[in-house]
Amino acid sequence: MAKEPQDPPEAGAEPGADRRDFLWKVGCAALGVATLEAAGSTLRFAKAPVSYGPAQRRVLGELARFPPGEPVYVEDAGVFILRDAKGMRALSATCTHLGCTVRSDRASGGFICPCHGSRYDAEGKVLAGPAPASLHFVRVDQDRRGRLVVDLGAPVEADHRTKVG
Ligand code: FES
Repeated sequence: MAKEPQDPPEAGAEPGADRRDFLWKVGCAALGVATLEAAGSTLRFAKAPVSYGPAQRRVLGELARFPPGEPVYVEDAGVFILRDAKGMRALSATCTHLGCTVRSDRASGGFICPCHGSRYDAEGKVLAGPAPASLHFVRVDQDRRGRLVVDLGAPVEADHRTKVG
């Protein structure tokens, strides 16, 4: 097959000018696409749905569900509700070692982690490791309908009680 003759470069034109022009246009197009993509990402980030606070609140139920005495475990919230004459408290059931769920231990009155054997007393203080820290308490309140509501994102001191009535 015979090669077609190429046009000779125009007089005064730089050799390779067409290729540079083409590469310049491709580079400008790529930069434009990248700029649009960056702007789109920024807008998506700025408009991302964000929730503050309420997502950590859980309605636990009517007060009658939590009689004084032994801790009542609420699986949905991962807390034990402790009720005594002074009020209500919510103790996280998440072991401070690696996050397993502790169980109430009737024999000792405290809590035991089934994963690696950590033991806690009735106030959630560590009796035996490997747990590095006590279980923590979170805020518990009553809503307008009198139901118990826990806020898992609001840690409180161990002696913080909510009076109920
Ligand atoms: S996760 Fe509880 S002792 Fe390891």
